[in-house]
Amino acid sequence: MYGNTLQIAEAIAEGLSRTMDVEMFEVGLAPSDPGDLDLLAVGGPTHQFGLSRKSSREQAADDADGPLISAGIGIREWIGGLGKVKSGAAVAFDTSIRKPNLPGSAARGAAKRLKRLGYRMLLPGEPFLVEGATGPITDGELERARKWGEQAAAGVASTSTG
Ligand SMILES: Cc1cc2nc3c(=O)[nH]c(=O)nc-3n(C[C@H](O)[C@H](O)[C@H](O)COP(=O)(O)O)c2cc1C
Repeated sequence: MYGNTLQIAEAIAEGLSRTMDVEMFEVGLAPSDPGDLDLLAVGGPTHQFGLSRKSSREQAADDADGPLISAGIGIREWIGGLGKVKSGAAVAFDTSIRKPNLPGSAARGAAKRLKRLGYRMLLPGEPFLVEGATGPITDGELERARKWGEQAAAGVASTSTG
């Protein structure tokens, strides 16, 4: 909503792009059929202990100081529109508030849904931390996201059947 997840996504994309070609989409513009990919990486903000909903995004929009990154659907709706797959690797990430450390994570919810569709999850759903609802990103988290992207790409390389 506010750009924190976007910044984390860009850092992950940077890590992935050391060894892979990367295309990045805002969720409302992402293709409804991702097609044949080596890796699908999906991320969004944790809202109300899980994936955002229309109501939580409306609440986030009310609290926004500037333009929203995503004014339409969230990753709950996007994943909900995907079909089952016979093969394909995926990872999921989110941004969550560091303090208080609340239960629940959009990444874990997304990972569970992607797994149900048949994706092989290369890493557990990973939260990246922000200091408050609108940010900023916690020190060190952009670097950790870049490395996490590299790790995911390495997972593709080591498990791909060619
Ligand atoms: C309506 C709403 C509910 C939220 N609920 C949670 C929560 O349950 N746990 C949490 O860690 N952060 C929660 N947050 C903070 C978000 O995780 C934070 O706003 C988000 O990570 C910022 O990323 P963005 O700039 O990409 O939207 C909530 C934020 C909003 C606006």
